[in-house]
Amino acid sequence: MSTFTELYGRPAEGEWAAPGRVNLIGEHTDYNLGFVLPIALPQTVRAQAARREDGLLRLWSAQGGELVTLPVDGLAPGSVPGWAGYPAGVVWALREAGHPVGGADLRLDSDVPSGAGLSSSAALECVVAAAYNDLYGLGLPAAELAVLAQRAENAFVGVPCGIMDQMASMCCRPGAALFLDSRDLTMRQVPVDLADAGLALLVLDTRVKHDLGDGAYAALRAGCERAAALLGLPALRSLQPSALADALTRLPSELVPLVRHVVTENTRVEAAVARMDAGDLAALGPILTAGHASLRDDYRVSCPETDLAVEAALAAGAHGARMTGGGFGGSVIALVDAAAAERVAAEVTAAFRDAGYAEPRTLTAVPAEGARRLG
Ligand code: GLA
Repeated sequence: MSTFTELYGRPAEGEWAAPGRVNLIGEHTDYNLGFVLPIALPQTVRAQAARREDGLLRLWSAQGGELVTLPVDGLAPGSVPGWAGYPAGVVWALREAGHPVGGADLRLDSDVPSGAGLSSSAALECVVAAAYNDLYGLGLPAAELAVLAQRAENAFVGVPCGIMDQMASMCCRPGAALFLDSRDLTMRQVPVDLADAGLALLVLDTRVKHDLGDGAYAALRAGCERAAALLGLPALRSLQPSALADALTRLPSELVPLVRHVVTENTRVEAAVARMDAGDLAALGPILTAGHASLRDDYRVSCPETDLAVEAALAAGAHGARMTGGGFGGSVIALVDAAAAERVAAEVTAAFRDAGYAEPRTLTAVPAEGARRLG
């Protein structure tokens, strides 16, 4: 495996890390300007980096294998295919926003599973944003870097994601979930000491490749925006639960389940935060499971594998379980008694084998730290 010095003939100026995430609850609410509640994973993308004076951006990733060289003043939306589009997009977004940044050499490495709904792309964007912020002495706050990283993904890569993943990767704290209001980016760190409560959070990656770029995510987002416009609201966030039943009578039938999901999901986030504030983490279980039912039946972004993982985890005694992230595959989280974690994982694995599905990959999520400089 090539070191930074082998790749670029000089040492790096520093090293940074940015994590993947799982979302506890609040799915498909961010682009409706609602609430989300993610935690950062211990798995990170790491970047070693050094500035260049000649305006070239050179990128190498241990997972991608090839060295990509791009002139920063030639960066244009849609012009960089594959994984390199994410880091290049961040440099483009910084420059577009008027920040005086030039080239750099970057060596990237990741242990965030990709395509698993764990935000490996956001982690890649955020580690580059953090590295550039320090290398070029920009002094931008974490939330502003997250917004620039989202802009890279929306406008440069062309994926219309919301703000959750980048905010999670930039702003999460160890031992806490990030209660984020996507409307104004106000946030609160909500302590979540699973071990103290005798609990564990299993992440079951179904290995069904999730790909947000395939159009389904964009279509859902457009449906929500159309519903908000028909209701005369700036975003579905503004629809109060007490006004939901009446609002649904004024919408075309295909938009009804979307709106019902978004409004009830926002109330589930608030309910989850209330349970956490009360120190009753096990009570999150039924909220997670209700969230899955809503994603499966109303939003329709689950798939047979995520549904089976949820059912098998619940049958094995999980307090609650749900798909996490955008859907169409990806990962399921299950809140379990710590002592039962291995057994629940084994029973989900057995259920997958019986169904003829690929073996799921299992991680245990411990709320970890957001983007940071390592050295
Ligand atoms: C993806 C997007 C996020 C969010 C989730 C669904 O992870 O990147 O912005 O919309 O899907 O909650």
